[in-house]
Amino acid sequence: MKLWGGRFKKQTDRLVQEFNESLSFDRRFAEQDIRGSIAHATMLADCGIISREDGTRITEGLREIAEDLRSGKLNFQSSADYEDIHSFVEGTLTERIGDAGKRLHTGRSRNDQVALDMKLYIRDELTETERRLSQLLAEILHIMEEHTDTVMPGFTHLQKAQPTTLSHHFGAYFEMFLRDRERMRDCRRRMNLCPLGAGAFAGTTYPLDRAETAKLLDFDGATRNSMDSVSDRDYLIEYLSALSVVQMHLSRLSEEIIIWNTNEYRFVELDDSYSTGSSIMPQKKNPDIAELIRGKTGRVYGHLMGLLTTMKGLPLAYNKDMQEDKEGAFDAIDTVLDSLQLMAGMLAAMKFNRVRMERSASGGFTNATDAADYLVGKGVPFRDAHGIVGQLVLRCLDEGKSLDELSLEELKQYSPVFETDVYEAISMKSCIEKRNTKGGPGVAAMREEIEESRALL
Ligand code: ARG
Repeated sequence: MKLWGGRFKKQTDRLVQEFNESLSFDRRFAEQDIRGSIAHATMLADCGIISREDGTRITEGLREIAEDLRSGKLNFQSSADYEDIHSFVEGTLTERIGDAGKRLHTGRSRNDQVALDMKLYIRDELTETERRLSQLLAEILHIMEEHTDTVMPGFTHLQKAQPTTLSHHFGAYFEMFLRDRERMRDCRRRMNLCPLGAGAFAGTTYPLDRAETAKLLDFDGATRNSMDSVSDRDYLIEYLSALSVVQMHLSRLSEEIIIWNTNEYRFVELDDSYSTGSSIMPQKKNPDIAELIRGKTGRVYGHLMGLLTTMKGLPLAYNKDMQEDKEGAFDAIDTVLDSLQLMAGMLAAMKFNRVRMERSASGGFTNATDAADYLVGKGVPFRDAHGIVGQLVLRCLDEGKSLDELSLEELKQYSPVFETDVYEAISMKSCIEKRNTKGGPGVAAMREEIEESRALL
């Protein structure tokens, strides 16, 4: 069943047909294709381009096709010979309602049709991506609220650096995923113009009302240049790029979970339902899901690169190369949506080991900066204070101690200004408490951050 048999004398080669077809994957936006056709037919009838009766026959027929696809009464298997979803829907409609079905494509090309379908589909997926990001943000906010006093080491170069809290650490991810959600909204705002009516690329001679179809399909308006309308895949590149950033953020968080879950760290324990075992080593409980989220980042980036490369040499307007925009995009979307849901579930079920975290923060000289600041408070210049604390650390390393395990006498050997109040000054609790600048890990600062975050959710 072809839409273009007229000027051909021979059948297409079997392999050509298989290589050319897209129904096996563009069936994914059957609903969007039908929705677009209903809007188009409604507009054609409103403008008197087709009769009111044909308009009604078409829209009712299309609604039935959508219904039958949903219920499984109609499927794609029986129609392997249709080239793409557009041929499938139009062909099925004509089989069912006769001549009226053949009037549906008046003033339309598959070029503006596919541009529309993909936009409608992506718009829905953008909404779904936003929804899943919101769920993850809610889960992260929950951890932030629970752990304002859970002290842990913060790292630079993966070396223990200064103490922070689990709440503060997750607050960083909240910001990342919040920006990701903003990127989705931004992408949606820019793409939300309707290409229908662009025809093959040069518009049409029928007096179409493009504003009407745009409105029926919830667009902000019609696209401004018909040649651009059928050639533009920027919005998809933007979406894939925003998805790549999401997956990059998920991958960084996964990497931390993997580290925190090691026998050496044991900051967290993954729930059994989010872990897997080993076929040979009975003791193993592996963080496969976090590893897979990290691993699948490669394929999401790959699909972005693939589409950029497909588009880079294309002359205006439509070229069949553009059919290649779909499978990679679908795979990237599936991967990111699954990853977002899995990450939210994994976090919800994960146990944090407060004691291990706090002990780790105390053990790694994360209070060395605070010890230096203490000396500065007693009048020692910062550069000297830095040197003194450096020597203290060296001694502690020799003796296997932490700074607060040195006696006052021992401390005084390095600087006479040390007094008993030093122990309070370098305790983990006060190290955190003193860091109350906006955005810092101090409990008061963190409470404020949480309030703001909750409002943004
Ligand atoms: N399957 C095609 C695609 O995905 C639909 C558009 C076909 N247009 C054409 N002029 N052959 O791009």
